[in-house]
Amino acid sequence: MNAIEQLKAGHQEALELMQRIEFLNDDSPKAKALKRDLVDQLRRSLRLHAWREAGVFYPALAEFRELDNLIEQARRDHHLIQELIARISTERWTEKDDQILADLSEGFGIHAHEEETHLLASAERLLGEERLESLGRRIEQMGSARVAIASDGGR
Ligand SMILES: [Fe+2]
Repeated sequence: MNAIEQLKAGHQEALELMQRIEFLNDDSPKAKALKRDLVDQLRRSLRLHAWREAGVFYPALAEFRELDNLIEQARRDHHLIQELIARISTERWTEKDDQILADLSEGFGIHAHEEETHLLASAERLLGEERLESLGRRIEQMGSARVAIASDGGR
């Protein structure tokens, strides 16, 4: 997958996880355990997505000054999204967590839509297929290395 395809797939994955969590509203122990697992997956997915974009993709666009504002906006989105996910309880799920998840889902949905429509579309035009492919390889490698480090105690 090239870089654009990977980043879009990352958006999709996180949005799907949020939807699955939102639909899990029964109180059985099994549903609660599944919800906790899905929230853990969502944390990892969002962290990986932020690393891939902020660590590899945005720096690769630094020469295109016309994208500065869009990149700045995307970085602000990431910051807000990380703040929201950090507020979701790791212990007992309450109504407060439902509200945070709803805000997160809305905020991330807007981020994904705006970024895909403006920043990713411009990047696709400016970078060209060869650079997108090689960035895609770097994004993939960097992502898996960082997640391995994070799951080793970086939480
Ligand atoms: Fe994104």
